[in-house]
Amino acid sequence: MNERETLKINAKGHLEIGGADCVELAQDFGTPLYVFDEAYIRKMMRIYKDTLATHYEGKGLVLYASKAFSCQAIYRIADEENIGIDVVSGGELYTALQAGFPAEKIYMHGNNKLPYEIGEALDAKIGCIVADAYSELDKIDAEAQKRGIIQKVLLRINPGIEAHTHAFVQTATTDSKFGFSIADGTAENATKYAMQKKNLHLAGYHCHIGSQIFEKQSFVLAVEKCMTFAAKMRDALHFKLETLNLGGGFGIWYTDEDRKIPAEGYAEYLEALLAAVKEKAVEYKLDLPFLLIEPGRSIVGEAGVTLYTVGAIKEIPSVKKYVAIDGGMFDNPRYALYQSKYTPILANRANEEPTEIVSIAGKCCESGDIIAVNVSLPQAREGDILAVLSTGAYNYSMAMNYNRNKIPPCILVNDGKAEYIVRPQTYEDINRNDVIPTRLLKKENQ
Ligand code: LLP
Repeated sequence: MNERETLKINAKGHLEIGGADCVELAQDFGTPLYVFDEAYIRKMMRIYKDTLATHYEGKGLVLYASKAFSCQAIYRIADEENIGIDVVSGGELYTALQAGFPAEKIYMHGNNKLPYEIGEALDAKIGCIVADAYSELDKIDAEAQKRGIIQKVLLRINPGIEAHTHAFVQTATTDSKFGFSIADGTAENATKYAMQKKNLHLAGYHCHIGSQIFEKQSFVLAVEKCMTFAAKMRDALHFKLETLNLGGGFGIWYTDEDRKIPAEGYAEYLEALLAAVKEKAVEYKLDLPFLLIEPGRSIVGEAGVTLYTVGAIKEIPSVKKYVAIDGGMFDNPRYALYQSKYTPILANRANEEPTEIVSIAGKCCESGDIIAVNVSLPQAREGDILAVLSTGAYNYSMAMNYNRNKIPPCILVNDGKAEYIVRPQTYEDINRNDVIPTRLLKKENQ
């Protein structure tokens, strides 16, 4: 089990997160329920921020990669912690602006930003757009010209690194849809192209090699490739690297197959990256660039648990025992997408020893609707509260209404007290945009 201070077992034998009893949370708010520990989120934001301050002369900014978990409250926390954010869609941008997040600390990503998203970003006067295609450079330049502004941009470059993670979350392999490749010369051509644009200011480069990565060496290699490339562009094109964005991707603990990195251990990852940037800057006689990092999963992932109520239990003799819960792929599609592994525990009997191997099944009409396969649990009974750990990242943000299930609410625990940060969806919410054409209306309603 995760031994972070965010999770504890209390005197009643109940699981606690951030000082709140999960069984009481389930009673008060219902299940399924996403629960987030505010202290853990703030702690992670501070660890990255302080490491930049002490090991890089504060010449940088932490951007919370908000695709991991986006809602207005998380943007308020990021703002209070004085960090920036990255957004990847008009929807995330809108949410951040609604929360009053300062536009100059917003960076926008995406491999195909839509024309209206570029317009919205420029209207909001966001700090920087990370361009990922020639046509995007054209569009940003044209929209900036219309507004009479010079827009700061970074180019997303692909250093060509195969990090050890699931293929779907690798982003810097040769065949990736992301970035301009250094190896095949496109990154150089794109640099030339962006430098010629009158209404763009090309401030530097961005790279992100993938997600849920534990190998320090993959990150360091990416830094080295970016710095080497920047030096080459200085020599070839007189390009000045002002800003370097190293993306996110640090791995977290889901099960005991993963490393358990204490919160402070993430400082060491970042220190290794900073050391590599400094070393290469000396080697190539480059000024130290303003440095950005974009952690998402490592900030919110282990800060979250999802609570469910156990329902039907089905044993297929000599094959498998299924424990079904009141949630499933509609609140956590990660097993269906990546065969992700999770650690479930019975929150109301958290002290009991596991006695059997079961699979946790969701309630969707889909065989692949599974949350965890072959995990050990004490014998589960209908009505038990099941907690699935490390669900703070890419769960709520990837939730959906499959089978017209309601997306569960999110609550934030602070010092043992819990409040909604995303209210429960209702059936009316799900039906809000449905329209019945007149000719299909029930006769008496026409
Ligand atoms: N920056 C960029 C440009 C990214 O594409 C990502 C993640 C991040 C930062 C943050 O990476 P993190 O620190 O969270 O690893 N849905 C998948 C993960 C997709 C990650 C997409 N990009 C999952 O559930 O595992």
